[in-house]
Parts: sequence; C-alpha cells; structure tokens
Amino acid sequence: MLGEARHGGVDPRLGAALAEGYTLPAAWYTEPAWFAREQEQIFRRTWQYVGLAEQVAKPGDFFTAQVGTVPIIVTRDETGTVRAFVNVCRHRGSILVAEECGHGKIFQCPYHAWTYGLDGALRAAPGMREEASFDRGQFSLFGLRAELWGPFIFVNLDAAAAPLAAALGELPALVAATGAPLDRIRRRVRTVYDIAANWKVVVDNYLECYHCPVAHPGFTQLIDTNNYTITEYDLFSTQGGALREEKQGAESLYDTSGAVRDGFYAYLWPNFTLNIYPGQGNTSINLFLPLGPDRTRAIFEYCFVETVGEEEERDFVRFIEQVQVEDIVLCETVQRGLGTGFFDQGKLMLWQEGALRHFQRLVHRFVTA
Ligand code: FES
Ligand SMILES: [Fe+2]
Repeated sequence: MLGEARHGGVDPRLGAALAEGYTLPAAWYTEPAWFAREQEQIFRRTWQYVGLAEQVAKPGDFFTAQVGTVPIIVTRDETGTVRAFVNVCRHRGSILVAEECGHGKIFQCPYHAWTYGLDGALRAAPGMREEASFDRGQFSLFGLRAELWGPFIFVNLDAAAAPLAAALGELPALVAATGAPLDRIRRRVRTVYDIAANWKVVVDNYLECYHCPVAHPGFTQLIDTNNYTITEYDLFSTQGGALREEKQGAESLYDTSGAVRDGFYAYLWPNFTLNIYPGQGNTSINLFLPLGPDRTRAIFEYCFVETVGEEEERDFVRFIEQVQVEDIVLCETVQRGLGTGFFDQGKLMLWQEGALRHFQRLVHRFVTA
C-alpha cells in the first residue's frame, strides 16, 4: 500500500497499484486540492453531457447547465445550429441568464442590460454610442464547442479537444445494437439529488454490481447479476445483464416483446451514464456533477418512446428511483469512511469491480497527464 501523496504530488507507484486493483488514495476523494486539479485536468478538457436536443427544439429555445464548475447557456440559433456559451456577461462578469430554460431572440443581462444575440454577438449596450472607443465586436459571449450524439448534447470547454466522436468511439454502434430507438425517445421525468459524497464515490458505486445482491434486492430480482458482463473500452465501459427468465412474459413490468431484450448500461468518461432496460424503448441518463470535494449533484433523466404507457412509466421510474436512493445512502456512508483518516487505499474484487478499476485508472491518467 502506498503512503499518502503529499504536496499535491502523485506517488509514482500509484499507476501500478491501480492496475493491481488497489483503489485511489482517500485524499483524492476528500481534499480540495485534488478537486481543483480534477477540474483543471478532467472537467475542462473532456466532453460533458449537458442536455437533450429536444430542450432546444426550435431556434430561440435555450437552457442553462454546468460544465465542471462553469455555468453555460445552450441554445439553437436562427440557422438551426445548437450553440453553447459561457453564461457570463462580458461587461462586468454577471451571470447572464438566471432561468433554467426559456425561449427568446436575445439574452439580456439583468445588471446593466447588455444584450446578446443567439449567436453570442453583443447587439446593444445602453449608452454604447456615447463611448467613443467602444468596439462591441470585442465583447461577444465566450463560445464553446457543442456537438451532438443522437438526442444528447455535449459541450467541451477545451477549444482544441478532439471531436466528440473520438471520445465516443464504438459506443453509438453498441447502443444502436441494443435496439433502443434513440431517435424516438422523449424525456418525461427529471430528478435531481444532492449527495454528500465525492463524484468519484458516486461513479465508483455506479460501476459495480458487487453490491447489488446486498443492497438492491429489487434490482437483483429483475436482472441476473450473476451473469453480468463488463467490457472496457478506451473512454467508456459497458455492463450488460439479462432479464431473469421468470421475469419475462406477460406479468412482467417490462414488455419484453418490445425492442430491447437485455439491460445495457454504459458509463462514458468522466461523469455520464446511459441506461437501457428491457422493454419497448427507454433510456435513463445519469449525470454526476462535482460541486465540491464532498458534494455531487446527481441528475437523472428518464426518456421513453411514445408507446410506453403512463403506468409502465410510473412503475419504471419508481423502480429505478428506489435503486438510486439505496445508492445515495451507500455513497454518503463511504464518504464518511474515507474522511476518517483511517483508510487510504482499498482492494477491488476485479472479477466484479473491473469497470471501477478502469474508471480509476482514467482519473489517474488524466490527472497525471
Ligand atoms: S454585468 Fe452584464 S451588463 Fe453589466
Ligand atoms: Fe447501486
């Protein structure tokens, strides 16, 4: 086992220890210095899911979101292009748009009414003509890279980042192979939880089902967790589990005569997951937003194809929310344990926690890059 990494340095033996299945040191989960380093090395450089294309269906639709700790605006401009901007006014730095979502032709700052178009250009500023040397062309909103995968909008704070498709790799093809019709799903339910745990505790928890028989009796009765497959790719991993045989058929919560037979769960680096359960066509999204060393916002979005009825939707959401609530308790309990000073590195059961090692090695790779 390694000693604690001091002065923000990374022990050179850590990479080999992670490969053997030791976990990241507790300090990486508890100390503000590591949180800041991750923001810089991970969240400012990777593609982050921010929302669905349906939220900006028409030109002028907009919503606000967060990439790492940076507030952003996502909109569709007059030409139909999805665009993203830093949600900060170029005059004196006020947050520009306070609303979660809306529709309009301009963004007007609540402080001194500087007004920007949907393309981010500064259109007007009160008293602008009286100011001799004022060149409004220099004060456009700061534009960000925004790219789509099907209905999912991703934003990257790094202007020099490789395209989204490079990060996704084979993932779109694997999702298409499940039969889930991404082009026909619509969001029906969105829930938000603030969790008193580091974002990596929350991702760690998502990435293994070693705890499922112990902590999620409902899930384990539905999905055969003994025959769970985990596959690692460069920047994502997938888990799959078949519906238990006795759950198939007319009595089932899920209509397995529909498009999707098996459960498929994908984790995309660093904080996005896509979950497809058996049925006619459903997709649930988890986004884990780091708010501080020991605070994470979990956003869950439930999308369905049109033919899923209200009752099935309600049962489905209730079932998954139950699992989420069980997981939140587990995550907060781990965070408390990590902060005691009597825990440094744990040891994984790799045959069931391999995807967690894959994730922790990515954290290490990016933080030390
Ligand atoms: S800070 Fe936005 S108009 Fe002054
Ligand atoms: Fe869980």
